[in-house]
Amino acid sequence: MNRQLIVAGNWKMNKNLMEAFTLASGVLAKAKKMSNKVEIVLAPPAPYLHTINSMSKNIAHVNIAAQNCHFEPSGAYTGEVSAEILHSMDIAYVILGHSERRKYFQENHEILAKKVSAAIRAGVKIIFCCGEPLEVRESNTQESFVLQQLEESLFHLSETEMKQVVVAYEPIWAIGTGKTASPAQAQDMHAFIRTQVATKYTTELADACSILYGGSCKPSNAAELFAEKDVDGALVGGASLKAEDFLQIIQARAKQA
Ligand code: PGA
Repeated sequence: MNRQLIVAGNWKMNKNLMEAFTLASGVLAKAKKMSNKVEIVLAPPAPYLHTINSMSKNIAHVNIAAQNCHFEPSGAYTGEVSAEILHSMDIAYVILGHSERRKYFQENHEILAKKVSAAIRAGVKIIFCCGEPLEVRESNTQESFVLQQLEESLFHLSETEMKQVVVAYEPIWAIGTGKTASPAQAQDMHAFIRTQVATKYTTELADACSILYGGSCKPSNAAELFAEKDVDGALVGGASLKAEDFLQIIQARAKQA
């Protein structure tokens, strides 16, 4: 396999300053000694990005992600952070399209398409989230739902730009619910996404595109998810808030590298 294996921790709006540094230190101390075959990504709340990025600078297989960015490079947008600012801080990734941003902050496909372009323009790689709600899964229309998300907000990128994108499949019914997609459900959707990337771009690009699973990924189910051939890693929420759990998920990925 010629694609990057990645385990990313999305801390969301959790951890105060001291807790955040304790968690980051705990993960980084162990990460240093772990296989460099797995790229580890930490996505802390924005105020901690700079310090945690500095803390991780000497570990080549660790990168930092922001959880959001604005689509304008700068301007009168109180409270927002641009991709340019992230780039100036040497932040490698930004998570875009997360279902919580779509739901609570009304990020529709047009806004997301603009954010995707803005990140690429600024030189920040993207972890692009997609995934269906429960009613879509129950009506068995998840493939067309996810394809629409990709077409509307991601597939306007050129082939060169698309190489800067990691896709995260996160079925909404599995996020924070304790309910994980079965390995077969994850594999089916990952294979579908890869096929769509191949159809839109090239087979080579699709083969090299890392596709992560997200939604109640934890130490007890990580290995079986990673055993699927199109599951290249995970975007982990709840279980990334405990260093031990997150490290176990990274280890599970490393074992099957
Ligand atoms: P979860 O969150 O692991 O807590 O389900 C995943 C995510 O939202 O990225």
